[in-house]
Amino acid sequence: MLGKSKLIYGTMGLGGDWDEPKVADEAIIKAEKAFETAIDCGITFFDFADIYSRGKSEKVFGEVIKKRPDICEKVKIQSKAGIILPDEEGINQFDFSASHLVKTVEKSLKNLGVGMLDSLLLHRPDPLMNPKELKEAFDYLFENKMIAQLGVSNMNQYQIQFIEKATGRKVRANQLEISLLHLDWLDGTIGVNNDEGFKSTMTPGLMEYMMMNNIEIQAWSPMARGLFSGKDLGENPNEIIVKTKDYVYELAKEKKTTPEAIVLAFIMRHPGGIRPVIGTTNPERIKASVEAERITLSRREWYKLYILSRGQMLP
Ligand SMILES: NC(=O)c1ccc[n+]([C@@H]2O[C@H](COP(=O)([O-])OP(=O)(O)OC[C@H]3O[C@@H](n4cnc5c(N)ncnc54)[C@H](OP(=O)(O)O)[C@@H]3O)[C@@H](O)[C@H]2O)c1
Repeated sequence: MLGKSKLIYGTMGLGGDWDEPKVADEAIIKAEKAFETAIDCGITFFDFADIYSRGKSEKVFGEVIKKRPDICEKVKIQSKAGIILPDEEGINQFDFSASHLVKTVEKSLKNLGVGMLDSLLLHRPDPLMNPKELKEAFDYLFENKMIAQLGVSNMNQYQIQFIEKATGRKVRANQLEISLLHLDWLDGTIGVNNDEGFKSTMTPGLMEYMMMNNIEIQAWSPMARGLFSGKDLGENPNEIIVKTKDYVYELAKEKKTTPEAIVLAFIMRHPGGIRPVIGTTNPERIKASVEAERITLSRREWYKLYILSRGQMLP
């Protein structure tokens, strides 16, 4: 099954407590187990960001591959740049300046212990992004073979076009929040000519734009952090979530699969070839997720899930 999975392994939960200054031994052991399980399941594309666990998600990978270089040989690495975490006054920033982007990639390469990123995503749109600075940054990163591919995250089609025009390079991927809980990716499509579309945080036509332009669609938080697949919903759970979850379990039973697989199959049924970026650190849940590869929901099953999770019929 090596390398066969469309799923991407997200590493935001690795590296240990965000406030721990150093990578602890337990964090390395946990990460090694998660990487090993993902690879055994055929997942060979790993997603990082400079900020995850304040750099320790990347560092933990670097530590693991010191003793297990085979892991590094089997996977492709994606990281992100452009977010600065809050300072002591609670001021956080997005920074696409050339100096910040280049410095961030240099640090990521060092932390990860690799010579090049297979993909770099600009994490969230920086309103102060300057076309000249973007060009300077990406010319440097590509010419020095520090990255092989440019992508973005949380951006609409106009921002993608802006970045392509500024850099003179193709944007290859866009990572967005896409799940049974966060339905903007669908509401942005059906919301034309009715006011529901305006509730979507996604620009109408974004999904179609990415499909037409061969931009890989990556889904972050695709399992809605376990909400429909076994997470404790507390004492007064939301009725919409309960009904959706019940149907997820019914489908899983019928299809002899896992609830995780149904939740992910809902996303993967979209013709855009969406790649879920799964973030579980639990080996059993990683295995349960890969089951999604063999499930295709019927149109009715898919629409029923959509309607249950939006809590009302389509317009
Ligand atoms: N581009 C962006 O702006 C952005 C933003 C957020 C995330 N991301 C990327 O997307 C990846 C996935 O994000 P995510 O971790 O939020 O997504 P997710 O895959 O929807 O959720 C994984 C999280 O939910 C928990 N979980 C799942 N099933 C559970 C269950 N049955 N019971 C209890 N807990 C359960 C996991 O805990 P366990 O580890 O215990 O299983 C883990 O903390 C990240 O790793 C990162 O790479 C990108």
